[in-house]
Amino acid sequence: MYTTLLTSLTNGILTVTINRADKLNAINRDVMQDLGELAGEIESNADVRGAIITGAGQKAFVAGADISEFTGLSSAQGRGMAQKGQDIFFRIEQCSKPIIAAVNGFALGGGCELAMACHFRIASENAKFGQPEVNLGLVPGYGGTQRLVQLIGKGRAIELLLTGNMIDAPTALAYGLVNHVVPQAELMTKATQILETILQKAPLAIGHCIAAANAAYSDKGYEVELNAFGASFDTDDMKEGAAAFLEKRKANFKGK
Ligand code: COA
Repeated sequence: MYTTLLTSLTNGILTVTINRADKLNAINRDVMQDLGELAGEIESNADVRGAIITGAGQKAFVAGADISEFTGLSSAQGRGMAQKGQDIFFRIEQCSKPIIAAVNGFALGGGCELAMACHFRIASENAKFGQPEVNLGLVPGYGGTQRLVQLIGKGRAIELLLTGNMIDAPTALAYGLVNHVVPQAELMTKATQILETILQKAPLAIGHCIAAANAAYSDKGYEVELNAFGASFDTDDMKEGAAAFLEKRKANFKGK
């Protein structure tokens, strides 16, 4: 069903590989279309409980939007392209199931933006991050100016946006852009282990945590948290989790 993504589903974890290695997995129209469908599949397919997104090959996660598709666009078409990308990346960010970016190389421009739209990032030692759009006379269009500020702070974000410089994986770790840096051969194992830990928890609570953390960047964050906390008391999972603790046994969550 996807033309640019490889997917495999094991124990509820959908592993997604952006598969244009000869173009460093650059996001062209087809990839963006597939990412939109992917966001829908992760949310709606009950067999999918979480996802890991990575890039094909050992060199790149995603080296940006496909620059060859920029030529000849009008300002309205450019804006429309960014609007579509923003919408799809919002759907990834707002997905109620966890999505991890396993960044296996260059994450530049739209690639850095895709990684930032995921719920958190794990990088291989060779990963490099940047928003080099200014080199092209452009600005990031898929949410990069906003999420970079949110994740690493305004001063560091503006320096990266204005210089177009790349940072390496240890710097990304120091900035808080990624949570872990591991050898490339261990990247998918590390991402899978963390996701397996998450998938042992109550699924509705996981979705609520994501929604509340996302709302931290609006003026509704505390209200979203209050509503999520209250709603949890109506779930079987909360009753099961509390009972399991009191009975000193492992909880058996059903996502209800
Ligand atoms: N869009 C379209 N094609 C891209 C691309 C992009 N963002 N990034 C890489 N490619 C293509 C190259 O054109 C090349 O294709 P070709 O073999 O048909 O000529 C292929 O991927 C390999 O890239 P190449 O530049 O030869 O690799 P490199 O190791 O010399 O350099 C990068 C790697 C990442 C530094 C370099 O590819 C680059 O700067 N890419 C653009 C990054 C960017 O500006 N992204 C933001 C876009 S808004």
